[in-house]
Amino acid sequence: MVHWTDAERSAIIGLWGKINPDEIGPQALARVLIVYPWTQRYFGSFGNLSSPAAIMGNEQVAKHGKTVMKGLALAINHMDDIKNTYKDLSVKHSEELHVDPDNFKLLADCITVCVAMKFGPSAFSADAQEAWQKFMAVVVSALGRQYH
Ligand code: HEM
Repeated sequence: MVHWTDAERSAIIGLWGKINPDEIGPQALARVLIVYPWTQRYFGSFGNLSSPAAIMGNEQVAKHGKTVMKGLALAINHMDDIKNTYKDLSVKHSEELHVDPDNFKLLADCITVCVAMKFGPSAFSADAQEAWQKFMAVVVSALGRQYH
């Protein structure tokens, strides 16, 4: 089981409390689709992804970005058991969606970039980043858990 220090726990929960998922989710999903264009292949039904502007203006991308953040909220609410909390989500991404699990890290990093840009160096201090990276690494690992 993952161990969280009190400082990590409060840094992660404190940062999460400041995040507007409806802002960061759409931004981060758009960013992963722009920066790592092969991730677009999983979103063939999402309409026009032909340019950065199209991706950033795409309603389905925005909606799904919010869904991803709901997934993160689940992890925040079950910090001591992220692995089991993500069991079904991991099965879905592997067996149904066939998402290459390397992409989880890429989206996690885009979320972190968006959070860093939003909050800047005082709120997103090195300490806060240390705790946040650990949280995202646990999320990425749990999502990749059901891959064989
Ligand atoms: C669906 C979370 C990463 C592709 C979902 C859903 C959630 C979620 C909560 C909805 C599941 C449901 O409807 O039961 C996450 C989280 C991620 C992540 C927390 C990492 C931080 C990725 C990545 C990709 C991806 C990296 C592909 C590059 C998809 C697709 C769907 C989906 C294609 C179905 C979309 C649809 O057609 O509605 N994800 N996901 N996910 N995810 Fe992920």
